[in-house]
Amino acid sequence: MKRVKRIIFLLLIIAFIGIQFIEVERANPPVTADINAPTEVKNIFKSSCYDCHSNETVWPWYSKIAPISWLIVKDVMDGRKDLNFSEWEKLYSDNRNKLKKEILEQINKDEMPPSFYTIMHPSAKLELIQINIIKKWAISD
Ligand code: HEC
Repeated sequence: MKRVKRIIFLLLIIAFIGIQFIEVERANPPVTADINAPTEVKNIFKSSCYDCHSNETVWPWYSKIAPISWLIVKDVMDGRKDLNFSEWEKLYSDNRNKLKKEILEQINKDEMPPSFYTIMHPSAKLELIQINIIKKWAISD
């Protein structure tokens, strides 16, 4: 039994090392049309949203370790697809307004930034003051 356990453990280690060689792309494409919002608004987005909703993702060390890396890369890709502050100024104003509404909704429901993210990035958690600043911006023009 001891021997079987040892072999299983060894196989797991080998598998863990093996998956490190599967390549995933952690790309930060160029920033072409970064959002033009008041500094106080933009700073909040930068500290709480940019890791998943911009092309300026700061990739943490654990984003280089499979299989966590796969989850993080997927999150960033999905996040950018829905909302990318680095390409905001390219959007038609209709789409911008739609996104503003969605930002309001996500913040009202306390769904963004996701809780698994704020565990690792406590300072990204939105404070009431910050929430109010974003709300004011989101309902403006
Ligand atoms: C850890 C990564 C991460 C962070 C940080 C993050 N988001 Fe997201 N966000 C996502 C992902 C992934 C999606 C894609 C929707 C989904 O699958 O849940 C998303 C979707 C959205 C959407 C679209 C929702 C919809 O219904 O289509 C909005 C709006 C949004 N996020 C706003 C924000 C705002 C505002 C912040 C900062 C206060 C933020 N997010 C921070 C990962 C993140």
